[in-house]
Amino acid sequence: MAFSLPDLPYSKDAFGETISAETFDYHHGKHHNAYVTKTNDAVEGTDLAGAKLSEVIASAKSQGNQGLFNNSAQVWNHSFYWQCLSPEPQIPQGKLAAMIEDSFGSKDEMLEKFKAEATGHFASGWAWLIKNGDNLEITSLHDADTPVVYDGMQPLLTLDVWEHAYYLDYQNARPDYVDALLDKAINWEFVAKNLDGEGVSRADQDG
Ligand SMILES: [Fe+2]
Repeated sequence: MAFSLPDLPYSKDAFGETISAETFDYHHGKHHNAYVTKTNDAVEGTDLAGAKLSEVIASAKSQGNQGLFNNSAQVWNHSFYWQCLSPEPQIPQGKLAAMIEDSFGSKDEMLEKFKAEATGHFASGWAWLIKNGDNLEITSLHDADTPVVYDGMQPLLTLDVWEHAYYLDYQNARPDYVDALLDKAINWEFVAKNLDGEGVSRADQDG
């Protein structure tokens, strides 16, 4: 067995101009797929062959194997990101909505903070809404870095802020990409599901 490229949970043209089919062709079909291929090549014939993706990420981090960490973490990050998107506009509901109000004051304040984090993050990386204990927090991580390897960072929602996520549709206008997705393309049902602390498992896979 080896890691595989997960199917998108919607059709490539489901988001119209918000995220074009061409972006999915490159972002999912080329970039994400390349991370899968490079991770498989790196673990083949090693002690990590057959290990779960989350185990490969943690092991690469503890061994200081930056190349394997980058590729395996990007497999997981993208697998999680696709699930954070919904072609049907949603709003946070129930327990999630209540926790957002407790932690940020209101949904709008949370979205403003998330937008500021995502647009202000320097260079490549990922913006995150995470659960830490009973609180929700917004942060960002550089390059391929991932909540998978941090205690106290239970992943709820992410936006990819690498240029390859938005350049075809928004060129260099990262704020427009962030605005558009936060406004009409977030799968808040998936985000709410991750309040159970099992978010890592939802983008994990067996090796
Ligand atoms: Fe990406």
